[in-house]
Amino acid sequence: MKVLVAGGAGFIGSTYVRLRIDAHPDDSVRVLDKLTYAGRRENLDGLPENRVELVPGDIADPDAVAAAVEGCDAIVNFAAESHVDRSIESPGEFIQTDVFGAFVLLEAARAAGVRHLQVSTDEVYGSIESGSFEEHSPLDPSSPYSASKAGGDLIVGAYHQTYGADALIVRGSNNYGPRQHPEKLIPLCILNALAGDPLPVYGDGMQVRNWVFVEDFCRGIDLVLERGEAGQAYNVGGPDELPNIEVVRTILMLTGRDESLIDYVTDRLGHDRRYSLSSEKVRGLGWEAQVGFEEGLRRTVEWYRDNEWWWAPIRGGEYREYYERQYGRALRG
Ligand code: NAD
Ligand code: DAU
Repeated sequence: MKVLVAGGAGFIGSTYVRLRIDAHPDDSVRVLDKLTYAGRRENLDGLPENRVELVPGDIADPDAVAAAVEGCDAIVNFAAESHVDRSIESPGEFIQTDVFGAFVLLEAARAAGVRHLQVSTDEVYGSIESGSFEEHSPLDPSSPYSASKAGGDLIVGAYHQTYGADALIVRGSNNYGPRQHPEKLIPLCILNALAGDPLPVYGDGMQVRNWVFVEDFCRGIDLVLERGEAGQAYNVGGPDELPNIEVVRTILMLTGRDESLIDYVTDRLGHDRRYSLSSEKVRGLGWEAQVGFEEGLRRTVEWYRDNEWWWAPIRGGEYREYYERQYGRALRG
């Protein structure tokens, strides 16, 4: 089997490519990736060239997509603008990739008659005070990012219902692990802590996120690709629900820093208070999270400590300007 992995040069997509190659020794992967600020060739370093091919291209470009789909037996779509804060600053790119691009890819899958798995997020359900979202819970997105992801999900549902397309959705909770861009809370705080810089906590820091180690999430995606039912959505949520401030404190503990580095800053606009997913349905397929938060975070901190070659160029580039705009101060170190 040859799988087209759109967005396979990003954080989760590249983890999935590694897992797919390991778990299916006879299979190969073609990665279609626009290589935006978040996508990096280095994320695919060390993978066998005869089994993993990288094709630079945009999922919103029908010609690029048609060429990339040629010869593939299934599509997994990770390609997206993925950062909530950037969607607040500049929503248009999110609509273009996460809605229109998702449509272009789905249309190509339908034309080729291949399975299409859309990677989506718990954020499409919006915030929940108590209990957990199930797959039939109504979509109620809050940010331009989550609204555009919800748009992608609705088109997938419509393609199954209208055309009988072999399309399905996996909705994940907050991922963490190696190779996550430092714009996101956990790598941002790890790198700032290692440098002795302040850790910016939005609002009161009591927003709750449901953390899943990236390899666990990718195992869930692969299982649903192999065994999921067309037209269905599957939640894949992590075992740990934690307020942000606890995550930040654990990072300080693991990096040997004290709490004087915590810096409460202006809250994110429209900030969702709590996410929580019920993963009963995917458990029914045989999925279970294997990595708890403390172990996963320890592994993640170690990876960032050991791989300065990976993150130093990011902190030296466009990210510096983004950081200044977002946090109103320069990035040191
Ligand atoms: P990421 O930002 O690290 O990677 C996104 C990748 O998509 C990059 O390689 C980028 O170059 C590529 N890309 C962006 N626009 C493209 C386009 N128009 N055409 C082709 N490639 C394009 O994101 P991530 O955190 O790895 O998330 C991957 C997917 O998983 C996204 O769809 C996201 O919505 C979803 N998701 C993420 C999380 C999370 O916690 N990070 C949780 C649940 C779901
Ligand atoms: O829930 C799944 C989603 O998780 C994915 O769909 C998104 O692609 C992914 O980016 C992530 O979104 P979040 O907004 O939850 O992740 P982020 O790391 O940006 O923020 C996590 C929490 O930490 C959130 O409540 C905001 C807060 N935060 C974030 C940053 C960057 C801070 O307090 N300070 C920060 O500097």
